[in-house]
Amino acid sequence: MFQNPWFETVAEAQRRAKRRLPHMVYGALVAGSERGRTVGDNCKAFGDLGFAPHVAGHHAERDLSTTVLGVETSMPMVISPTGVQAVHPDGEVAVARAAANRGVIMGLSSFASKPVEEVAEANPNVFFQMYWSGDRDAMVQRMDRARRAGAKALIATLDWSFSNGRDWGSPMIPEKIDLKTMARLAPGVLPHPDWLWRFAKTGRIPDLTTPNLRPPGGPAPTFFGAYGEWMQTPPPTWEDVAWLRKEWGGPFMLKGVTRVDDAKRAVDAGATALSVSNHGGNNLDTTPATIRVLPSVAEAVGDQIEVLLDGGVRRGGDVAKALALGARAVLIGRAYLWGLAANGQAGVENVLDIMRGGLDSAVLGLGHASVRELSPSDLVIPPGFALTLGGEED
Ligand SMILES: Cc1cc2nc3c(=O)[nH]c(=O)nc-3n(C[C@H](O)[C@H](O)[C@H](O)COP(=O)(O)O)c2cc1C
Repeated sequence: MFQNPWFETVAEAQRRAKRRLPHMVYGALVAGSERGRTVGDNCKAFGDLGFAPHVAGHHAERDLSTTVLGVETSMPMVISPTGVQAVHPDGEVAVARAAANRGVIMGLSSFASKPVEEVAEANPNVFFQMYWSGDRDAMVQRMDRARRAGAKALIATLDWSFSNGRDWGSPMIPEKIDLKTMARLAPGVLPHPDWLWRFAKTGRIPDLTTPNLRPPGGPAPTFFGAYGEWMQTPPPTWEDVAWLRKEWGGPFMLKGVTRVDDAKRAVDAGATALSVSNHGGNNLDTTPATIRVLPSVAEAVGDQIEVLLDGGVRRGGDVAKALALGARAVLIGRAYLWGLAANGQAGVENVLDIMRGGLDSAVLGLGHASVRELSPSDLVIPPGFALTLGGEED
């Protein structure tokens, strides 16, 4: 049966991704941890916030553009870094092209499947993401490489504590994919001919390596090799964060902040931006939804540092809500992954268009001429919705 490749919501993109991807790949994107409470609350909390629209006096022209870390973006949205291993043969390059076509900044994971040079060629506005992994020489080498490739900012993601186990079961991810593994995985893969065909056409199978972590003159580590190095690296102190920030030298975002005290330390460490994030609910389960803790963080440090949010954004209206509660912009993760799985680069463009349309409707209905005018008075905020972690009101 003919299916229009265009989809009208991110929920529909997710349904198509579920049908098209092998179970293990889909499961790795759904992710979450333990009970799945945080991953669920990230989305649910946006639905608990209401809008307070005006009936007349709307603006015919609306400006959705802004800057993030000095880089212009056509709307207040950044592609959140994710290792897009095995979703699509063009992976992060397809995402980068889609983002470039829509005037959106590309966040690239150090665990990504495509080299930063190729991604920066597809989208000049790349923010490179790193974990605290390996020794300082390795980190400096990775930063130098990203800088040479043209990355305009560094995202340091530090909110990961290796929690594992999901009540609904974790997908089996192989160490590397070779013909023997393909044969073993065949029962899970063969029912998804679209996915297999996309890779078959390129003559390549997803290799699950991390080219951005390749040491000079050495091979790219496998995903699990890279994960092992990360696990064995002693976790960073705030002095280490300040060191990283200094070594990078340019615009620097600390991703993973949920507490007011940490937000203040991020400012002290010299960060120029932070993202209120719980790693899309993949880290410590039962951490509250990011939108609940955003107002307290924005209130504490929003005049000293750019405050962004990620987690649970599935609609343009969600973007408007985050901005109304103090975010300068949001990062999106699974939303574009579903688009990529559903229809490659065009699917990511489709998602960005859905986001733009929804944001524009919200700005129109709320009677504003620009995203910068959004404020808490645009929202219906249920009692007890907002939470302050690590602040005086604790
Ligand atoms: C499959 C997957 C892989 C991810 N990989 C990374 C990563 O490599 N680096 C990183 O900083 N965050 C990573 N994240 C977290 C995202 O950048 C982002 O914080 C999260 O997806 C936001 O929540 P959302 O998916 O609800 O939009 C990953 C998330 C998912 C779902």
